[in-house]
Amino acid sequence: MVIFYMRDKSSIFPPKLNLKILNCELLDKTWLTTTIIRQRIDCKEFSQIAQPGQFVNIKVSDNFIPLLRRPISFHRVNRQQAWFEILFQIIGKGTELLANIPLGDRINILGPLGNHFIIPDNCAHAILIAGGLGIAPLLFLAQELISRNIPATLFFGNKSSENFCCLNDFEELQIPYSLATDDGSLGFKGTVIDLFLTKQKQMSQSHSIIFGCGPNPMLQKLKRVAEASKLHCQVSLETMMACGFGACLGCAVNSTSASEPYKYVCKDGPVFNVSEINFGE
Ligand SMILES: Cc1cc2nc3c(=O)[nH]c(=O)nc-3n(C[C@H](O)[C@H](O)[C@H](O)COP(=O)(O)OP(=O)(O)OC[C@H]3O[C@@H](n4cnc5c(N)ncnc54)[C@H](O)[C@@H]3O)c2cc1C
Ligand code: FES
Repeated sequence: MVIFYMRDKSSIFPPKLNLKILNCELLDKTWLTTTIIRQRIDCKEFSQIAQPGQFVNIKVSDNFIPLLRRPISFHRVNRQQAWFEILFQIIGKGTELLANIPLGDRINILGPLGNHFIIPDNCAHAILIAGGLGIAPLLFLAQELISRNIPATLFFGNKSSENFCCLNDFEELQIPYSLATDDGSLGFKGTVIDLFLTKQKQMSQSHSIIFGCGPNPMLQKLKRVAEASKLHCQVSLETMMACGFGACLGCAVNSTSASEPYKYVCKDGPVFNVSEINFGE
C-alpha cells in the first residue's frame, strides 16, 4: 500500500513545486504518421504557465494497469485559446491507451513538471537539433523563440522518411530545416549530428545556442560537437520515470559533478546544460 503524508489539505506535493492534478478534456487528435499522434487538451491552468521543456505526467487508464503515469512533453501551447498539445509515439501499452482515449473524455494530468529551456537575452540564433520524437518539445521552444524574434534553424533526424512529422509547423514559423535519415530515404544519409557538422561552417555561430532533444547516443555525440565548437548547449533528457516530481529517485542519470554524482531527470531536469551529464564517455 502507498501512503502519502499530506503536508496540507490541498496538496500531496512539496509546496514549492506548485503542482496540480487536473481532469482535462481531450479536444482533438490527429494522426501524423501511422504511430505518431498529436492530441489537443483543454487546460486553462497549464496553458498559461507551461514553459518549453516542461512536461506532464499522464494517467492513461481508469484502473491501475499500467500503474505508473506516462511523462509527455508540452509540444505546443496556445495561451489565448487555453489549450496545449502533446505529441507522442505509440511504443507500448501506456501510449496505446493514451492514443485510444475518445474525444471529449477527460484525461487525468499531473503537472507542470520539470525545469525548462533557458533562452539567454544575448541569444542571437538558436540551433534546434531533434532526433525522432525529440521534436516534440522543440516546437514549443520554436514558438517561444519566434515570439522573441530570435531566428532559429532546425536539424531533424529520423530512421527513415516515414517517421517525420511537424515539418509544416516549422515552415509556418518560417524556421528553415535540414533533414537526415539513417537509411538515406530523405535528406542527408547519416545521423543528424553528422548533418549538423556538414552545415556548421556555413552558419554564423556568434551567440548561437544549441537546444537538443533525442536519444542518448545522439545527445552524447552532440555533447562532443558542442564542446569542440565551444557552443553553449542545452539538452532535454528522456528516462524511464515513476513519480515525476522527485520522490522515488527512479530517474537518476550520471552527472559530471564529483560532489553530486547523480542528477534526477524529473526534478533537476529534464533540461540540462550538456556539460552536466555524463553519457558514459
Ligand atoms: C520528460 C519526458 C518527456 C517525454 N516526452 C515525450 C513526448 O513528448 N513524446 C513521446 O512520444 N514520448 C515522450 N517521452 C517518452 C514517453 O514517456 C514514453 O514513450 C512512454 O512513457 C512509454 O510508455 P508505454 O507504456 O507506451 O511504453 P512501455 O511499455 O512503458 O515501454 C515500451 C518500451 O519503450 C521503452 N521506454 C519506455 N519509456 C522510455 C523512455 N522514457 N526512454 C527510453 N525508452 C523508454 C521501454 O523500456 C520498453 O522497451 C518522454 C519521457 C520523459 C521522461
Ligand atoms: S521519477 Fe521519481 S524521482 Fe524522478
